[in-house]
Amino acid sequence: MRNNYFSVPIIVALFTLVGCEEATRDISIADPTESEVMLNGLSSVEEQAYKEGRDLFFRTFTVEDGLGPFFAEASCGKCHEGAGRGPGKVLRIGRTVNGRFDPMIEFGGPTIQFRSAIKGIPGESVPPEAQFVDFRVAPAVFGRGLVEAIPEETILSNADPYDADADGISGRANYISMNFVGAPTHPELGRHGLKAQLSRLMDFADNAFLHDLGMTSPMRPSELINPAAPNIKDGKKGNDITQSTLEKVDLFIRLSDFPPMLPDTPDIIAGRNLFATVGCVKCHVPSMTTGPHPVAALSNKSVSFYSDFLIHDMGPTLSDGVLDGDAQPQEWKTPVLRGMRFFREFLHDGRATTLHDAIVMHGGEATAIRDAYLNLSSADRDKIVQFVRAL
Ligand code: HEC
Ligand code: HEC
Repeated sequence: MRNNYFSVPIIVALFTLVGCEEATRDISIADPTESEVMLNGLSSVEEQAYKEGRDLFFRTFTVEDGLGPFFAEASCGKCHEGAGRGPGKVLRIGRTVNGRFDPMIEFGGPTIQFRSAIKGIPGESVPPEAQFVDFRVAPAVFGRGLVEAIPEETILSNADPYDADADGISGRANYISMNFVGAPTHPELGRHGLKAQLSRLMDFADNAFLHDLGMTSPMRPSELINPAAPNIKDGKKGNDITQSTLEKVDLFIRLSDFPPMLPDTPDIIAGRNLFATVGCVKCHVPSMTTGPHPVAALSNKSVSFYSDFLIHDMGPTLSDGVLDGDAQPQEWKTPVLRGMRFFREFLHDGRATTLHDAIVMHGGEATAIRDAYLNLSSADRDKIVQFVRAL
């Protein structure tokens, strides 16, 4: 378990470091504007909604708009560049009290808003009481409308919580009965978030406005607590954004498609076959079909997600100490593998800067399959990497 204490200057330094890693990477990053793709076959009304939501998603909000008073970034696009991943991240804290996980709400948790919109007032810092402090990378938001359209029973058909087939892999569903600030919700299958801790995209939109931008909405009307500055207010009275803003941003995400996969080459085809024979497909399930959906472009589509949307124990080195819904500290959702060529860093906290490193860092339930990858010739390993990068 990690037990790090970051001060604000260190956090800011870490954020600026993100741009300096080029030399250590084995791949160049594709142009992020190419990862922003609208679903095919939208009606003109849907297209208009996508465009309005897009403007809000990439807009940089100001103190007059109600940004803050404390926030992580001033725009969704700062952490979801090109509707993808990063460069911004979230800092998540927690501790254990009497054997129970505590998201530390009264200390300003579960995430730290390290910037301030108010001149002369510093942003939040990590409370010394925090036992777990870990960055979380922002997963891409593209293709998430398709994810939400997968029928629950399709996802559950891959679950094997007691490892009945004795292959060492026991993916299970994260059923949500509480959201991540501890408020009870209707029990539902979680499918979004790094630990599948939220079931609906809309929950992410209002959570993100509040926790990442410090902006209140009709669904989240109270500003976050900063125990160091409890009386500081932002520049706007009442709710900072309307329900309609939330709905537009939600629609932009819902109507975003995955960027296209790169065309096949002999190496990519060989990599795809190896990805299957080695057993990566046991968790990174190649495709699923969406159910009937009111938006025709999301309805009955077979989509290459390369995920089972289940949570897996990935071993102690990938633990973050945090409980999310039913997901334990070592458990992570199998991430969707689409769009990897647009990302700078991999795994939940971005600790891997190459796809090869990300694969090698698999542990827990994935140990045998990681070892099978390591036992391949370096040429074959490279084919798997080329295939994943083409997704
Ligand atoms: C400071 C960085 C940051 C900002 C700003 C940000 N996000 Fe995120 N976003 C994240 C992180 C980190 C996660 C993963 C959180 C987790 O699982 O704990 C995430 C996850 C998501 C997801 C779920 C994706 C998936 O498949 O799991 C959606 C949807 C989302 N964000 C939407 C938004 C919207 C809408 C905004 C703007 C209102 C926004 N985000 C602003 C960092 C950010
Ligand atoms: C037991 C299930 C399981 C198996 C088997 C598995 N993975 Fe994963 N994979 C995961 C999980 C869970 C994560 C996320 C871990 C984290 O973020 O800490 C992950 C992360 C990744 C990532 C990083 C993705 C990102 O968004 O940063 C890549 C790339 C990847 N896996 C490729 C592979 C390849 C290639 C194989 C086969 C050699 C494989 N995986 C086998 C479950 C699995």
